[in-house]
Amino acid sequence: MIPGVDNDSIVYLNGDYVRLGDAKISVLDRGFIFGDGIYEVVPCYGGKPFLMQNHLARLQRSLKAIRLETGRGIADWEALVADMLSRSGARGDCSVYLQVTRGVAKRDHGFPADSQATVFCMVSPLKRPNAHKRGQGMTAVSMPDERWLHCEIKSVSLLGNVLAKQYAADAGVDEVLQFRDGNLSEGSSCNIWVVKNGVMRAPVRDNLILEGIRYGFLEQLAADAGIPFESRPIPKAEVAEADELMLSSATKEVLPITQYDGRPVGSGTPGPVYARLRAAYDQAIAAL
Ligand code: PDD
Repeated sequence: MIPGVDNDSIVYLNGDYVRLGDAKISVLDRGFIFGDGIYEVVPCYGGKPFLMQNHLARLQRSLKAIRLETGRGIADWEALVADMLSRSGARGDCSVYLQVTRGVAKRDHGFPADSQATVFCMVSPLKRPNAHKRGQGMTAVSMPDERWLHCEIKSVSLLGNVLAKQYAADAGVDEVLQFRDGNLSEGSSCNIWVVKNGVMRAPVRDNLILEGIRYGFLEQLAADAGIPFESRPIPKAEVAEADELMLSSATKEVLPITQYDGRPVGSGTPGPVYARLRAAYDQAIAAL
């Protein structure tokens, strides 16, 4: 029994469909031993995946970046997600979690000569941000970004992100804004957006952040709404003086940050750029 999950839900593990409570991998799996693997989180609304092609393309990019050959292509991942959604009978909002590791082998840091990738997939209920979170906004504090230099890879080696999220919890806030060399990078598990004088900004898409699927999507929504957008290094002082701050991720969608380092952001309430993006995001979900 694993607390907090539906142990009877059916998960996919290496070709088998088993109860979550019964799914087992070897202790020598390189995901367990080294964090040697990749993952994706695809949000689904009314049982339909949202921006799935982009998620699967990123999955393939991440696998390629760590030189993990699975023999599967985007169409195979797509079929797996569709199969999992139909088996789980998910008609509501849910998220599909996909994880691929370099498989099971004798413990040795170098790549094993002939291990088989471990492929795991589960569907979990998705709790969309409620009216309170949308209305009140999130709280955040700043911290140094102490992670590695390949944050663009959606790796399961998430210790830096885990510690960052706990830093937020210990500070009694929802999220952190991480800074590297004086510039904004991202949250513990989300991208961060800064609005000043009507212009929306986000850090450059380089190796220091994970390019969220919502990064390109919100950029597109902003363009459609005539909101100017720029991607460039964002110094800490600019974040402190922002009119609006927002975060985005598969599970948080887009949310305002209304308190930062103990002070209100702008008016201390969700701002007009957020309101427009939020409405456009909801519309895109409704149109699925
Ligand atoms: N996290 N940056 C980091 C470090 C993330 O972990 C995430 C997502 C994002 C936003 O990416 P996207 O818009 O594609 O969700 C940015 C997921 C949701 C997670 O780890 O559960």
